[in-house]
Amino acid sequence: MRLLPAAVTLSLAVALAYYVYVPMPDAIQEPWKLMLMDAGFRATMQLASVKAWLGIDHYIGSIRRSTAGFEGMMEGLLGPEQGGGVMPGVKVSDITFAGVPVRVYEPPAGGEGHLRRGLMFIHGGGWALGTGKRGSYDTIGRMLSDELNTVVVSVEYRLYPEVHFPVPYLDCLAAAKHFLSPEVRARYAIDPERVAVSGDSAGGNLAAAVAQEISTDETMSAKFSVQALIYPVLQALDFNTPSYLQNQNIPILHRPLMVHFWLQYLGADLSLLSQALANNHSALENSNITPELRARLDWTALLPPKHKRDHKPLIPKKGFQGTWKEVPGLLDVRASPLLAGPEVLAKCPRAYVLTCEHDVLRDEGLMYARRLQDAGVSVTSDHYEDGFHGCLSFITWPLEFDVGKRALRGYLDWLQDNL
Ligand SMILES: *[C@@H]1O[C@H](CO)[C@@H](O)[C@H](O)[C@H]1NC(C)=O
Repeated sequence: MRLLPAAVTLSLAVALAYYVYVPMPDAIQEPWKLMLMDAGFRATMQLASVKAWLGIDHYIGSIRRSTAGFEGMMEGLLGPEQGGGVMPGVKVSDITFAGVPVRVYEPPAGGEGHLRRGLMFIHGGGWALGTGKRGSYDTIGRMLSDELNTVVVSVEYRLYPEVHFPVPYLDCLAAAKHFLSPEVRARYAIDPERVAVSGDSAGGNLAAAVAQEISTDETMSAKFSVQALIYPVLQALDFNTPSYLQNQNIPILHRPLMVHFWLQYLGADLSLLSQALANNHSALENSNITPELRARLDWTALLPPKHKRDHKPLIPKKGFQGTWKEVPGLLDVRASPLLAGPEVLAKCPRAYVLTCEHDVLRDEGLMYARRLQDAGVSVTSDHYEDGFHGCLSFITWPLEFDVGKRALRGYLDWLQDNL
């Protein structure tokens, strides 16, 4: 009887295909590669949930070990400079800035006699995952330093669950102030007029928040001259923007995962997930959320019709006020830079905002670009119609996507011309 093994094999294949398959918009190129990658991430997270439930590992710790294991395996296969090209001239040092661990990349061309550009990079990973020292972040750090002849500082801020808001923000702010100090600028021969702050996803959130704080701090003798935000996280009041709804199942940042990251970051009870998904935390009865604040993320006014489509805003009348009162960070501009007023935005540096059509965070990025522009800041809005969240991290084989490479090129070129 060969029928039974065949039937088992077939059922397993069907189950696997069912697990891997996610419907994808036509614009997404290489959809199967994205689905396989997403299945890998989902499997990692589900394994972590099971281990946490069994009490044998911490959820975040388990995900960190799995991704580090994967990256280690790829480095073993491809060598440490995987695909990023060997840049022997770039000097890498792991040191601390004001007590915060950072990795500094110094370009080959020396600092004698001429000043160089500077860039602070803050990596993403939902304020819980990631490091600038491995994989594509390290590759991008080397590329930025080599190609732009720039001193790049990648911040190893502390992560959840060890800390939550505002610690990651305060780590980045302390490192930024140290970077901009006269002593450090002199040590690295950095031009005070040409220093950028940049980051992707949760790192884009921290970069935007730090840029606002430095811009309005009159005690700083040097400030950031540009900010380059890559699909940044900017607000936690509306998890029902058109992009949150349209892209809720698009890899790799599924809607509940982003909301989960927010609850962790704000130190909130994770059981509030379903309430938050229903926007119950920002119900009308929450009088702390003034009409003025709501207007700062009112996508019905701030987005072009192309992105509003026929979506309707979701603002429940009654919600779950009590519990959210214990989450003061919810209305803190240092956590949600989109909530800043026009007087703060007007002082912010020239901006580059990269957004992806197929990303839950698309609309907040577009709204921030629009509000900065309305406040008189010069903004380049670089939108990728075939982009998905995180695509800039996928620039090396086998996890490489054409759109990731194009977006990285757009980012580097903008900095080359504007920093
Ligand atoms: C949102 O709040 C309302 C009013 O308190 C409640 O009836 C509803 O069940 C809540 N929604 C969720 C998903 O918990």
